[in-house]
Amino acid sequence: MPFEDVVELALYHPEHGFYSTGGSAGRSGDFLSSPEVGPLFGTVLANALDAWWRELGEPDPYVVVEAGAGPGTLARHVLDAQPACAPALRYVLVERSDRLRDVQHSRLPMEPPRQVLGPVVVDDPDEGPHPMAGTGPLVTALAELPQRPFAGVIVANELLDNLPFGLLELTPTGWAEVRIDEHLREDVVPAEPELAQHAERLAPDAAVGARIPVQRSSAQWMRNALALVEWGRVAVVDYASTTPELARRPWTEWVRTYRAHGPGAHPLEHLGEQDITCEVAVDQLPSPDSIRSQADFLRAHGIDAVVDAARVAWQARAHIGDLEALKHRSRVNEGAALVDPDGLGAFRVLEWRVGK
Ligand SMILES: C[S@@+](CC[C@H](N)C(=O)[O-])C[C@H]1O[C@@H](n2cnc3c(N)ncnc32)[C@H](O)[C@@H]1O
Repeated sequence: MPFEDVVELALYHPEHGFYSTGGSAGRSGDFLSSPEVGPLFGTVLANALDAWWRELGEPDPYVVVEAGAGPGTLARHVLDAQPACAPALRYVLVERSDRLRDVQHSRLPMEPPRQVLGPVVVDDPDEGPHPMAGTGPLVTALAELPQRPFAGVIVANELLDNLPFGLLELTPTGWAEVRIDEHLREDVVPAEPELAQHAERLAPDAAVGARIPVQRSSAQWMRNALALVEWGRVAVVDYASTTPELARRPWTEWVRTYRAHGPGAHPLEHLGEQDITCEVAVDQLPSPDSIRSQADFLRAHGIDAVVDAARVAWQARAHIGDLEALKHRSRVNEGAALVDPDGLGAFRVLEWRVGK
């Protein structure tokens, strides 16, 4: 079986997959993503959504699709921040796991998809039916990206690293594919000529013994996302690198597993019980218009001002030490974690601008 199929089953098998049986981001989950650190990431993303909305000429409806939305934490924080675009906002959570979509429903006021994606129609005898402005924010959840193109934004935090990927190895006789046998052992077999040529193009200078990921699902997901945005933007946040760079590093460094808040075991162990992720090879995706660190992205959208205000408020109340004071202090700590150059701050934000 190709390695990619093993990852697919381990993560998403409807009965036994990690995301079907209880795996999740979050404080009580298996890993801590930026939205799960606290509300600050969503607050700053809300600023970004406003900036992009203004850039687009303040469309109403303004569709924001959050893909790989997990339990809906980021959506909640964005909505709690009450962005200026809220009256126009149609927030669509896209999550493959049925179980996590159920969690979203318990945490957010949901509307039926057609009410959120289709226009809130008013019948105007002169103009015909058209969307009524100012009815947002409306929220809905889907298992897959919407079918019809829209004006707005698609965002995804730590989705691409979670999509299944193949593994190739350069052997003395050429590129080979890592397959997995029925005993869950590796079987490294010569790659089909097309795959071998693909690998050669991706990592022409790889040394014998090097491994690379082949991220066809991520590339396809990106193409689908870009085709769906008529005009607007796609922004994905993830830990990212390039194929030649990954080829220089041991594969066990860029294929990471997580279990119960810590590093997990070898990817072929505890299948379905641990998360399996892969650093995103940016060169395997459609070329983005901009790549910057999460720290730079958050600074560009005002994280410093939010944290400074929290610091002042914390200092003013520190002597009281009440809940309000603690809330401000925790916001300051969140800020440090989100821009930490050795942690979440080093994640990459890739942006594509579409149309107009
Ligand atoms: C690493 S989690 C990130 C969750 C959340 N975005 C966060 O940052 O905390 C990735 C999520 O993407 C979901 N997912 C995987 N493939 C997907 C797909 N094709 N469409 C939508 N969601 C998907 C998984 O079920 C999982 O909940």
